[in-house]
Amino acid sequence: MSDGLEDVVAAHTVLSEVDGAAGRLVMRGHSLDALAGHTSFEEMAALMLDGFVPNLPRQKQLQVALGEARKELFETIVSDAVPAALSPVEMVRAMTALIPDGEGAGVVLKLLAAPAVFTPAALRLRRGLAPVAPDPSLSQAADTLRMLTGAAPTPQQAAALDTYLVTVADHGLNASTFAARVVASTRAGLVSAVLAGISALKGPLHGGAPGPVIEMLDAIGAPADARAWLEAALDRGDRLMGFGHRIYRVRDPRADALKGAIRRLGADAGRLALAEAVEQAALAILRERKPNRTLETNVEFYTALLLEALGFTPDSFTCVFALGRTTGWLAHAHEQIAGGKLIRPQSVYVGPQPRQAA
Ligand code: CMC
Repeated sequence: MSDGLEDVVAAHTVLSEVDGAAGRLVMRGHSLDALAGHTSFEEMAALMLDGFVPNLPRQKQLQVALGEARKELFETIVSDAVPAALSPVEMVRAMTALIPDGEGAGVVLKLLAAPAVFTPAALRLRRGLAPVAPDPSLSQAADTLRMLTGAAPTPQQAAALDTYLVTVADHGLNASTFAARVVASTRAGLVSAVLAGISALKGPLHGGAPGPVIEMLDAIGAPADARAWLEAALDRGDRLMGFGHRIYRVRDPRADALKGAIRRLGADAGRLALAEAVEQAALAILRERKPNRTLETNVEFYTALLLEALGFTPDSFTCVFALGRTTGWLAHAHEQIAGGKLIRPQSVYVGPQPRQAA
C-alpha cells in the first residue's frame, strides 16, 4: 500500500521522463531546453502523438487541420447556452463534453483544438462579450490570443504562448494524466479520457495553483512585505502555491523555461521583480520551516506571471494548462489503449465484517 500511490510505477511510457533528483524533463527523447522556445504547439502535438494516431495530418497539414477543427467547434458548440455562472474551466469542460466520444484522428483534432476555442469563448461570455470566431489560417497559439482579445497578437506573444504550451505538454504520470489513462483503459473514448484529465487538473494541488499565485502576489503588493505575509500564511496552515512537488527534489526545470519566456516577452519588470522577491522569501522560509523536505519553486509560479502577461485572467489559467496538457493526455490515452490492459488496482478492506448469526 502506498498513500497517494507515491513511488508506485503504473506504466511504461515512451512519452516523457521526469528526473526528480536532477531536475530534468525529457519528452520523446528531447530535453525541455531543446523544445521550449524552439517548438510550436503543432510541432509538439505531432511529436507526442507520432506513431499513435493513424491518419493524423503532419507538420503544416496539422496546423491547417487544427484551424478547421477550431472553426467547426466554434460553429457547432460555442453558444451562450453554457451557464456563465460556471468557472472558466467548468465552462471549457462542459463544452468539451459536447464533442461526440470516440477514437481516431477526427476526435483527436477536435480535442487538441477544443481548449483553444472554448477558453477565449468562456472568458468573453462571462464578461458579456460575443465570442470571436477562429481564424483557421493562424497557428493555434496566435489564434487563441486573437480570440481572447479580438486583436492579432504580436509574434513575441504567440511565441511565448507556444513556449508555455510546449513546456507543459507532458509530465510523466501526473494526476490528470493518470486519470486520463484510467478512463482510456476502459475504452470509454478519448473525449471521456480528456474530460477526466480536465477534472483532475483543476484541483489546486495540481493545475489549479497558478490562479492563487496571482492572488498571493496581489495580496503581498511590495517586496518588503513578502516575508511577513508568507509567514502569516504558513502560520494559518496554508500551503504556498507554486512551491513543492511530488517528484522534484530540486527546482522544477519548467520554472526557468517559463521565466525565460517572460523575459523574452519584455513583460512588466516591476511585476517580475515582485515575483522574484516573493520567490526568494518563500524558499528561505520553507527551508527554515521544513528542513527535512526540499520545497522548491514549481512550474505554476512562473506560469502565473507568463499567462497574466499574455492577458489571461487568473481564473482561466487552468484552461490554458489544459490546452497544453491535452497533447499529453491524448498521447498517454493512446499508449494505454495500445497496451490493452484495464487499470484496476486492489484495495484492502478495513471496515467491519458482517456479524455471525448466533
Ligand atoms: N507550502 C507549504 N508546505 C508545503 C508545500 C507548500 N507549497 N508543499 C508541501 N508542503 C509540506 C507539507 O505540508 C508536508 O509537510 P509535513 O510533512 O510537515 O506535513 C510536506 O511538505 C510534504 O507535503 P506532501 O503533501 O506530502 O507532498 P506531496 O508530494 O503530496 O505534494 C504538492 C506535492 C505539489 C501537492 C504540494 O507540494 C503542494 O500542495 N504544493 C502547493 C500547490 C502547488 O503549487 N501545486 C502545483 C504542483 S506543480 C504542477 C503539477 O505538475 O501538477
